[in-house]
Amino acid sequence: MSPNRIGLPLSLVLLVACLVSSTRGTCNVCNAVNNLTCYSSTQMQACQVGVLSTATPTACPSGYVCASGSSGVLCQPQDASGGGQADCQECNKCDASQTFACTGSQSFALCLGTDTVQDSVGTCASGYVCNINDTQICGLPANGVMPTCSYTDDTTTSTTSSTTSTTTTPGTPSTSSASAYCAAVQSQGKYAVGYNAYTTCRQYIYCTLVSGSWIGETYTCPGTLFFDSASGMCESDMPSTCSTTATTPSTTTAAPTTSNPGAYCRAMQSAGYYPVGTDASTTCRRYIDCFLLNGSWNGNMYQCPGSMYYNSASKMCDTTLPATCSTTVASLSLNGVDLD
Ligand SMILES: *[C@@H]1O[C@H](CO)[C@@H](O)[C@H](O)[C@H]1NC(C)=O
Ligand SMILES: *[C@@H]1O[C@H](CO)[C@@H](O)[C@H](O)[C@H]1NC(C)=O
Ligand SMILES: *[C@@H]1O[C@H](CO)[C@@H](O)[C@H](O)[C@H]1NC(C)=O
Repeated sequence: MSPNRIGLPLSLVLLVACLVSSTRGTCNVCNAVNNLTCYSSTQMQACQVGVLSTATPTACPSGYVCASGSSGVLCQPQDASGGGQADCQECNKCDASQTFACTGSQSFALCLGTDTVQDSVGTCASGYVCNINDTQICGLPANGVMPTCSYTDDTTTSTTSSTTSTTTTPGTPSTSSASAYCAAVQSQGKYAVGYNAYTTCRQYIYCTLVSGSWIGETYTCPGTLFFDSASGMCESDMPSTCSTTATTPSTTTAAPTTSNPGAYCRAMQSAGYYPVGTDASTTCRRYIDCFLLNGSWNGNMYQCPGSMYYNSASKMCDTTLPATCSTTVASLSLNGVDLD
């Protein structure tokens, strides 16, 4: 038996598999031939091109699936060979670059260079929808970007993005007052919070513009580090503006944040490089190296050289802006750690 006799049929099988998967249509995209879209793999919906339809979906007959083709969106027999495959099958699938997968109409997760969705939760900015082919992950339906996942894949109805990440560390300003601060500052960046060496000197407010609104979050430096407004980093030297003659120190265990690489790596429980954030000018250039030392997880934060970005899929510094570094992304977490 020659190897060719096995090799040829195998490659044919792979070729056919590739052809079938590449013809799989996308969800919620209006087909202008008959002004219908697939709402789910078994439901169709009346639509207009470029507009998110609000029409009531209609179910295909039993044994039929919804598929878009050159003759419009049709309910086709489920077992039809070639072109009979349903639309709305790309939810929870990693994109070709293994960067992310859409997990709902407005949510996504990181793939970290694998074909598997990782323990990660990302949300699109308000009004944006997740599309597997969008270089910014989330896009606007008004710009023709339709959700890759069917609305029927959304576990809870109206999973409102942002605002759900309210970090409630005792004694820290609430997110709303941080946001009010940022609305006044009107500039993206990290800002010092106060002058108490034990509390507010260890904190900073991070301001970002999310779909036209200034959002502020309060972060605490790891361990006994102080926030240095000049460098924008947590450092061991106490800034001269801070005073130790006020109130008592609060003893809180370090929460796993990306500004605390050790706690971050204890949450990851795996050696390797991990992304730090979604801010194109700052955190997207950094990465954390997690490693096991003497039986406990440790981490160091590094900055990519020059103006390079850290790519979570290739795990390399790259000149291309990663998809995750976009203002269309409202929040992103990995193994329960909020990325900055
Ligand atoms: C689809 O909708 C467009 C715009 O509303 C309309 O001009 C067109 O005639 C419609 N096509 C069909 C096949 O109904
Ligand atoms: C979207 O991406 C998938 C997988 O990366 C690919 O197979 C498909 O052809 C793309 N669709 C479009 C419309 O570009
Ligand atoms: C690892 O642990 C051993 C024994 O507990 C200790 O002697 C050694 O110094 C530790 N190494 C490091 C790098 O901390």
